[in-house]
Amino acid sequence: MHSRLFSALGCALALFAAKNISAETVWLDQLDLRSAMQGYGEPHKNRSVEGNPLTIGGKVFKRGFGTHAESILHINLGGGAQKFTASVGVDDDVMGNAASSVEFFVIGDGKTLWHSGVLRAGNAPKDCAVDLSGVKELVLKVGDAGDGIDWDHADWADAKFETAAATTFATSGEALPPPIAPYILTPAAPATPRINGANVFGVRPGSPFLFTIAATGDRPMTFSVKNLPAGLTLDPTTGHITGLLKDKGNFTVVLGTKNALGSAEKKFRIVCGDQIALTPQMGWNSWNCFAGAVSQDRVQRAADALVKSGLINHGWTYINIDDYWENHRDSKDPTLRGPFRDAEGFIVPNSRFPDMKGLADYVHGLGLKIGLYSSPGPWTCGGCAASYQHEEQDAQTYAEWGFDYLKYDWCSYGSVASGKITNVLNIPLWGKTATNDEGAIYPYRLMGKFLRDQHRDIVFSLCQYGMADVWKWGGSVQGNSWRTTGDITDTWKSMSGIGFKQDAAAPFAKPGNWNDPDMLIVGEVGWGHTHPTRLTPDEQYTHISLWCLLAAPLLIGCDMEKFDDFTLSLLSNDEVLAVDQDELGQEATCIIKDGNLRIYERALANGSRAVGFFNLGIAPQKLAFADFAKLNLAGKQVVRDLWRQQDVATVDTAKDSLPLTIPAHGVVLYKLTAAK
Ligand code: GLA
Repeated sequence: MHSRLFSALGCALALFAAKNISAETVWLDQLDLRSAMQGYGEPHKNRSVEGNPLTIGGKVFKRGFGTHAESILHINLGGGAQKFTASVGVDDDVMGNAASSVEFFVIGDGKTLWHSGVLRAGNAPKDCAVDLSGVKELVLKVGDAGDGIDWDHADWADAKFETAAATTFATSGEALPPPIAPYILTPAAPATPRINGANVFGVRPGSPFLFTIAATGDRPMTFSVKNLPAGLTLDPTTGHITGLLKDKGNFTVVLGTKNALGSAEKKFRIVCGDQIALTPQMGWNSWNCFAGAVSQDRVQRAADALVKSGLINHGWTYINIDDYWENHRDSKDPTLRGPFRDAEGFIVPNSRFPDMKGLADYVHGLGLKIGLYSSPGPWTCGGCAASYQHEEQDAQTYAEWGFDYLKYDWCSYGSVASGKITNVLNIPLWGKTATNDEGAIYPYRLMGKFLRDQHRDIVFSLCQYGMADVWKWGGSVQGNSWRTTGDITDTWKSMSGIGFKQDAAAPFAKPGNWNDPDMLIVGEVGWGHTHPTRLTPDEQYTHISLWCLLAAPLLIGCDMEKFDDFTLSLLSNDEVLAVDQDELGQEATCIIKDGNLRIYERALANGSRAVGFFNLGIAPQKLAFADFAKLNLAGKQVVRDLWRQQDVATVDTAKDSLPLTIPAHGVVLYKLTAAK
């Protein structure tokens, strides 16, 4: 409940008390526009989204709202306005760019009252005049006209309301769904043994091998593996498999586990070859809770918490240190001050990390893996020492310490890159400006090479926010995953704004190469000062379901010593996690978009399909779904509710429909499998 109260408070604070507004006219720019949802940039008053004077088709306007498709602004009129007028169009900031096309909508109490039609760069402003008598809730919306949001700078110029008396209107980017208490859907794991986690694991020849069999069930438990290839050893009490494979090869083994109540087996593939991260990484990262306050002790305790919470038994593996393990260029905090590098140029951790190798050994001893963070520029995003001109030494150091993962940011690289890097790469550049894209690619290619030179498998996670369509070349520079967006925060606007805009990158996901829509924001999060996530319970179901459908790396961002039962239930549903970890590696895309309904689908390795029915609206949505052909489903299908881990129906796709009730901002996540 606490988190709902928190957002209700945040919303109340966002209400605008208009002052000195005349009895007849309320200008749109007199309202609080900050909470408007938009596809790019920040809402601007009296300026375009780029901060230039509002200009449409050569005409300059003094007042208005500069935004970017897709944009939504809710205004609570409560029947207090009579008329809305504006001149709308694409801002001249886009300089005639042909990709720019938008549509403006004025929606009153759910009905479209005015629609501009498609407007393009250079078009004259279009006048809008709408009668608002009796309208309680107004939505000003800008759509992308169906061709994506590139260059969709949109202006509501001269926008104003006529009112009977001086009045105030509250605004929000999103109307909020009603508060509900957290409710747990994930059934408790049985006391009998069950083997969870991915069905496949990739390793390179000659790299140290570490894989922990993830299994739930009462302890004590013993483990076994049939057909384990030479070079690998199993510890039967911990389930840790270690050793080294000398040569490439594909090995099918049978993992086994036993306790007092029974036993379980599972077929599993070990693929020794060039590629690692054959399923998306699962683990934890320090940034979304500790940010600049991370320390060796906190990381060690996070590793302990991953084990103690039981999440290790569901396949969670990595413990990743983000920014602030290096010394800082000018912090006042003495624990962050000290030499950046030693006399030979090797990186020196700050005093909060007295023993990197010891820390890595400790984490490995638990059967987990460990990661860290750097940037290709001289400084990280937080202002700590980064890898510029020490890339090879850094890769060597990470490997010597025993690290298994590197998140490599972009910050401060721009300052050293400009103009220096041209035509060194020979990678196809998909129509973008060659020099810029090569500048964007070069530092990753460099670090990718040095990481590959190490005799250790180091997952390479690119964090440059999707620049230069990273999904098209990330794999070619040894990247295993790449951020497709800016930083996430724990609001519906941020999470849904990122999660529902991944389609362009989706076709590029495959085993070893994952699109990363950023880390998870469930649990106690807060970048230094934590609070319970501000997402509602249903928004959290949406978040986890969507990230699993997107085959996203799953990195828990919360303080794991403060897990509550609901958060744990979200992170330990093996049937939901199996969608993320499916070995086919196909990323879901949006197949059906209809009003507030979004239907995402992906094919799974066993021929089933995972389908997420999402409701972006603030009221529950009931529907009878029958459009199975669009989801490529035919014949009789068994429908399984993955959160509840229950079969709920068998449908004949030729004649039946599937009744669905989707909570506000929530999801129904099903798996459909052809009936035998
Ligand atoms: C960037 C990244 C974040 C985090 C910080 C650290 O903002 O996107 O995920 O790593 O840097 O400073």
